[in-house]
Amino acid sequence: MSAAPGEAGTRRISAPDIRRRKADGKIVVLTAYHTYTARIVDDYCDVILVGDSLGNVLYGFDTTLPVTLETMILHGQAVMRGSKKALVVVDMPFNTYEGSKEQAFASASRIMQETGCGAVKLEGGVRMADTIEFLSGRGIPVMGHIGLTPQSIHTLGSFRAQGRDEAAQLIQGGNGAGPIEEDGRAVAEAGAFAMVIEAVAEPLARRITETSSIPTIGIGASPACDGQVLVLEDILGLLPRAAKFVRRYGELGESMRQAVETYAADVRGGAFPGPEHVYNLKIHT
Ligand code: KIV
Repeated sequence: MSAAPGEAGTRRISAPDIRRRKADGKIVVLTAYHTYTARIVDDYCDVILVGDSLGNVLYGFDTTLPVTLETMILHGQAVMRGSKKALVVVDMPFNTYEGSKEQAFASASRIMQETGCGAVKLEGGVRMADTIEFLSGRGIPVMGHIGLTPQSIHTLGSFRAQGRDEAAQLIQGGNGAGPIEEDGRAVAEAGAFAMVIEAVAEPLARRITETSSIPTIGIGASPACDGQVLVLEDILGLLPRAAKFVRRYGELGESMRQAVETYAADVRGGAFPGPEHVYNLKIHT
């Protein structure tokens, strides 16, 4: 199923549709957090991810840890209102699922019920396998997320690429699976319909992609993955700094600056509002 623009009457893409897309053309994923951006992304992407990266991008936090379930639900609802075709996946924020399978089910079912989205995403491999199985077995499609998992920033220590030694060992002919490969296997076996692989060197991302039954969606994980995801504001050039793996497809930050600068100058100089922006009087005789 392709996500070409302008297809009339197409039903929304489901998690099983994405699961079946393994090795069947690249899966295109972008984040969106608002109704108006979702409208555009929906025309071109298979999956819209309402990522908890909104904590950094929209709210200016240094990490994603302060993002709450209520915030994710509000943005998930906004994205659902703006989209018709893409599968909408909403991130489960920190401290809403790691405590127990029951906590995860309570949070995920609220996200599904209150937003109407088609799936949730959660971070973690082997350690989250039981939870993924519990949710998947109870009607909640789960997208996994392995490699660099930003919610674990305080145990990882930095946002650096993960598993470089493990990837190097693969090239040198090592045949024992390392921890990230084990994570990929655990997520797939637990019943996730797809998994994000973040900031992982190509040999390792390739090996996980080739050996996994579910699609891998890479972000900084090479073209070997079955699909790609990036943060919309990164590709639009709205953020001052972007990671090595981002390609900027626009410079909207600069355009916004110019527009705001011109508006301010127009107001100060009296060029705005013009006569066309002024309401005419209706005089009744
Ligand atoms: O939160 C997010 O936007 C994400 C993607 C970057 C994969 O998890």
